[in-house]
Amino acid sequence: MEYINIPKTDLKASKLALGCMRIADKSVEDVEKLIYKALELGINFFDHADIYGGGKSEQLFGEVLKRNPGLREKMIIQTKCAIVPGKMYDFSKEHILKSVDESLERLQCGYIDILLLHRPDALCDPMEVAEAFDELHRTGKVRNFGVSNHTPLQIQLLEKYSKYPIIINQLQLSIVHSVMIDSGLNMNMVEPFAQDKDGGVLDFCRLNDIVIQPWSIVQASWADGTFIDNPKYQKLNDVLDELSEKYGVTKNAIAVAWILRHPAMMQPIAGTTSPLHLEETAKAVDVKLTREEWYRLYLAGDKPLP
Ligand SMILES: NC(=O)c1ccc[n+]([C@@H]2O[C@H](COP(=O)([O-])OP(=O)(O)OC[C@H]3O[C@@H](n4cnc5c(N)ncnc54)[C@H](OP(=O)(O)O)[C@@H]3O)[C@@H](O)[C@H]2O)c1
Repeated sequence: MEYINIPKTDLKASKLALGCMRIADKSVEDVEKLIYKALELGINFFDHADIYGGGKSEQLFGEVLKRNPGLREKMIIQTKCAIVPGKMYDFSKEHILKSVDESLERLQCGYIDILLLHRPDALCDPMEVAEAFDELHRTGKVRNFGVSNHTPLQIQLLEKYSKYPIIINQLQLSIVHSVMIDSGLNMNMVEPFAQDKDGGVLDFCRLNDIVIQPWSIVQASWADGTFIDNPKYQKLNDVLDELSEKYGVTKNAIAVAWILRHPAMMQPIAGTTSPLHLEETAKAVDVKLTREEWYRLYLAGDKPLP
């Protein structure tokens, strides 16, 4: 495993993180096996959210921590707040503080390493968010702060009032969902791919030493499932097949190697619930795609180059 020293923190995080969104319907024993496999592979970073499985994901993870008291100190635990499913996004101080207290209770641990604001709240009052961050940091409940799905300006607005830097932006990114890359490659062209839909978030994160955490790294959409072995993405799968054979790893690992080949600080979040799939995916860290291979995969995902 390779590690990233997350800028502005003392955290040394594995380049691949384990996402815990899908563990909610697993048994405690299954989750325990998955966690031990992650640690054995050198993965020390675990991503949660208060809403995953309606709280069940954090709860199961907490039960594993309780059974294995030595585990917590080997981990970096990140969770998110501010989505109230089906109703609204809520950056109020009251909601953020309550959500963290509930996450801590479910996770059965004394602190969270990183708290992310899950999705931008249209009614965000950055001074109120700053007050919430202050209190969470002062009471030792949260050590670092970040965001997910935020534009550069939304990050700057939060940072204007907060004492604490935004260290992470968790964003959807895969070979088939590469909006943040497409617009830069097609700048000033009339094609839809040239549209800047995110305020230049990729370059902003690079300029400001913010780690990008790609999510849904092999998932195409809820309707289609993954793009791996999916007939809708035949051209892409042909190239993945070829490179998978060349490097002796699975196609999933090649898809993750494609993300890691980007020189921004990328920390992909693997959403698998299977120890075997996690082991296969972790091999991505050792694959260094050539520039030509990276572009071949990009183009096979039906993207144009001007
Ligand atoms: N910030 C946000 O808005 C946001 C949104 C969505 C997700 N997330 C985070 O990102 C994480 C990952 O998201 P995701 O689960 O949508 O994406 P993903 O990593 O692309 O996983 C999607 C599916 O791919 C399958 N898969 C993964 N690796 C595989 C392999 N090697 N072989 C075969 N199948 C494989 C998994 O099934 P198996 O379990 O069977 O392997 C899983 O159901 C989540 O856990 C969560 O932490 C964040």
